[in-house]
Amino acid sequence: MNIRICGTGSAIPSKRVTNDDLSKIMDTSDEWISTRTGIRARHLAETETTTSLAVTASQRALENAGVQAEEIDLIIAATATSDYVVPTLSCEVQRELGASHAVAFDLGAACSGFLFALSTAQAYIASGMYKNALVIGAEVLSKLMDWSDRSTCVLFGDGAGAVVVKADENAAFESVQGSDGAKGMVLACKNRPVVNPYHDDQEAYSHLSMDGQEVFRFAVRTVPVAIRQVLDKAGIAEDEVKYFVLHQANLRIIEAVAKRLGVPMEKFPTNMQECGNVSAASVPILLDEINRKGMIQRGDRLVLAGFGAGLTWGAAVLNW
Ligand code: COA
Repeated sequence: MNIRICGTGSAIPSKRVTNDDLSKIMDTSDEWISTRTGIRARHLAETETTTSLAVTASQRALENAGVQAEEIDLIIAATATSDYVVPTLSCEVQRELGASHAVAFDLGAACSGFLFALSTAQAYIASGMYKNALVIGAEVLSKLMDWSDRSTCVLFGDGAGAVVVKADENAAFESVQGSDGAKGMVLACKNRPVVNPYHDDQEAYSHLSMDGQEVFRFAVRTVPVAIRQVLDKAGIAEDEVKYFVLHQANLRIIEAVAKRLGVPMEKFPTNMQECGNVSAASVPILLDEINRKGMIQRGDRLVLAGFGAGLTWGAAVLNW
């Protein structure tokens, strides 16, 4: 038994911030950001929260799938920026949707989070434990940024994407995942400091820090290998794939992956130009965009891939 994606949804904040807008508040330029990353704008939360974005994306995915919230028996939310430490984002979404029959939990794998959540849903559904799952990637990364660090804050955006997946005996799904904790500190953000009556770390809240060039090298080296592995596992050649839907960190990373795979860039839809890097949300937001534009038909083969902090990476191949 495999999963089939039967509905998609997404939500991004209404506040659109262009590179030119950022250049008014920090020493940067549209030229610097767009030539190195492809990013031209990102959407940043003002009134929206990680929960509100995840709920809207999920409602749209349920509507798109024609599935009622009560039919969902599993909710997995991938996020590094939930509004609460507890309760989890997935439980907040469950309450707001009225998905009272679902078990709900969060999963943390940074920018690979959506891929890991999808593979987890596949494993549960293949085991027969659940039948209909809601898989969410949602982030308000702007709250982790050091807005005085121009080398990182210009890269990220806020938003959420969700898919409804169902057990389907005619569906095809294969995935690979990997982690390399030894290199974790190249992309890091500390949690709250320890403060109790016996110990006080006296630290301010931490922000995201990144060795951009290390992350770039890791992505370009690892993602093509993961994609080849998953295609081999499924017994599928690159030219049988309609689209490669990759984590939207950087246009140059995607171009390098396409080149290494020998696949034309037309098969790699992108939206980092408008959304920036939305971590766990970027793959499901892009998937929703291409679905709603009518770019994918039932039976089309898609490759999804994510990579990021941990370090972590994941790739999946599925039939639409
Ligand atoms: N605007 C203008 N100048 C900037 C800047 C900005 N927003 N950010 C950094 N700079 C400056 C640096 O200070 C440096 O100046 P210096 O040479 O005077 O010291 C110069 O630009 C070059 O910086 P460098 O870090 O060498 O640039 P780069 O070509 O490596 O590009 C990244 C930086 C971050 C765009 C690139 O490394 C990258 O995209 N990495 C991958 C990051 C990523 O995708 N992370 C998420 C993965 S999930």
